[in-house]
Amino acid sequence: MEFSINSLAPEKATGDSLVLTVSGNALPGAYAKLDAAIGGTISSLLAAGELAAKAGSVASSHATLAGRLVRLIIVQLGESIDAAAVRQAASGAARALLAAKGSSADIAAALPKGVAADELAAAFAQALVFESYRFDDFKSSPEPRSALARVNFSTGKKADAAALEAGVARGQALGQGMNLTRQLGNLPGNVCTPTFLAEEAVRLGKSHKLKVQVLDQPELEALGMGSFLSVAKGSVEPPKLIVLEYKGGKKGAKPIALVGKGITFDSGGISLKPGEGMDEMKYDMCGAATVLGTLQAAAALALPINIVGIIPTCENMPAGNANKPGDIVKSMAGLTIEVLNTDAEGRLILCDALTYAARFEPETVIDIATLTGACIIALGHVATGLYANDEALAAELLASADDTGDKAWRLPLWDDYQEQLKSNFADMGNIGGRPAGSVTAACFLARFTKDYRWAHLDIAGTAWKSGAAKGATGRPVPLLLDFLTRRAAVKKGKQ
Ligand code: BES
Ligand code: MN
Ligand code: ZN
Repeated sequence: MEFSINSLAPEKATGDSLVLTVSGNALPGAYAKLDAAIGGTISSLLAAGELAAKAGSVASSHATLAGRLVRLIIVQLGESIDAAAVRQAASGAARALLAAKGSSADIAAALPKGVAADELAAAFAQALVFESYRFDDFKSSPEPRSALARVNFSTGKKADAAALEAGVARGQALGQGMNLTRQLGNLPGNVCTPTFLAEEAVRLGKSHKLKVQVLDQPELEALGMGSFLSVAKGSVEPPKLIVLEYKGGKKGAKPIALVGKGITFDSGGISLKPGEGMDEMKYDMCGAATVLGTLQAAAALALPINIVGIIPTCENMPAGNANKPGDIVKSMAGLTIEVLNTDAEGRLILCDALTYAARFEPETVIDIATLTGACIIALGHVATGLYANDEALAAELLASADDTGDKAWRLPLWDDYQEQLKSNFADMGNIGGRPAGSVTAACFLARFTKDYRWAHLDIAGTAWKSGAAKGATGRPVPLLLDFLTRRAAVKKGKQ
């Protein structure tokens, strides 16, 4: 989909569809001429109550404008407009637009007070890219795609052009980053293997000028990643540690490290999971996919900041040579771990990746992982579980979650929970029992992240949807991209 910007008045629009934004049920002044030109269609629709009051509601109709048949899509911003209302309006409009016939559209936005042109453009561009995504690669006869190929934005004012431009770029980068994350998540485990993820990282490196390194088993052995390797050994797929570096910031400026759990299939191992719903464990690499999607978006926007992506990736499978309950492994940090449950494998691969992250002398480290079923019990499918060993970092991430609607909720890392990880025979066990399962998993990781500012995002409940709408969500790319954008803006201001 191609986006463009102009400053034409709505009655001068030339696209097959015309999107109008309304707040409440009054005709915005910006549409008065257009309304007159099409015989009062818009004011009649509004007067008849065709447009519901809820943000994101849509009323559509046809009109003849300058002798051409145009589909009108009127979208409701609501009476009291906040960022969430703008996003709801954007997705409502995007769905209606993509369902309509025609290959071109104009979004002729009337901006009510308090709605910034860039914010609106970002939301609409993101929604159009996001809603265009389909995962039908494996269908013999996929449903036909929308023909929409060109979308123009205008507020009718020249002064808004730069803001629209910036907003469209932001929304497009976010939508495309989320779609990469969704695509990698949705791909089945027999396609999206650790080797495949490494190849995708190399491809991303080439297209977006990232330095990419893939460490293979012998290198991981040399690094002493005994914990990570213990998870991988029951699988015929070789493990990989993928390292991507985006250098948009000053030379020597400390990077933000993003560490993503990349279990391309989690069977549970010898502590085998029940069969029902086990297919969804192909999504156990959504942390890794989030790192790649976020890096793609950050690079597309040329954010002035340095970022390192670190992805430990392997399968967790049962086998004659797989981890067994009671096995004791040694992590790269030198700490020994009693593997009391082979299904608590995420922390086993992450601990070594988190130790490795210190090599980059990171400003901050954030790991993203589909870590615990217990996080779903705590927060459902609404909020990501957030943990941090630094108050300011937690506040920043919560602010980004709030701004983007990519919700997160902080849970505690209190030492009181650490005793649940006690092992009789090693430095720690890899499970802490049923109580506070998401917290004890985070407490396990905390033992490996003492030397830097660190946050952990447990995305078990938010990375994908189950049921009829089964599919990866692209979360928490919005949260992370917002966080990085804010960090980049601060850094830039200091230069
Ligand atoms: N990948 C799972 C966590 C998970 C489960 C995410 C279901 C989303 C949906 C993780 O590796 C796991 O199996 N965790 C165990 C830990 C337990 C054995 C302490 C869990 O949550 O049951
Ligand atoms: Mn598991
Ligand atoms: Zn897992």
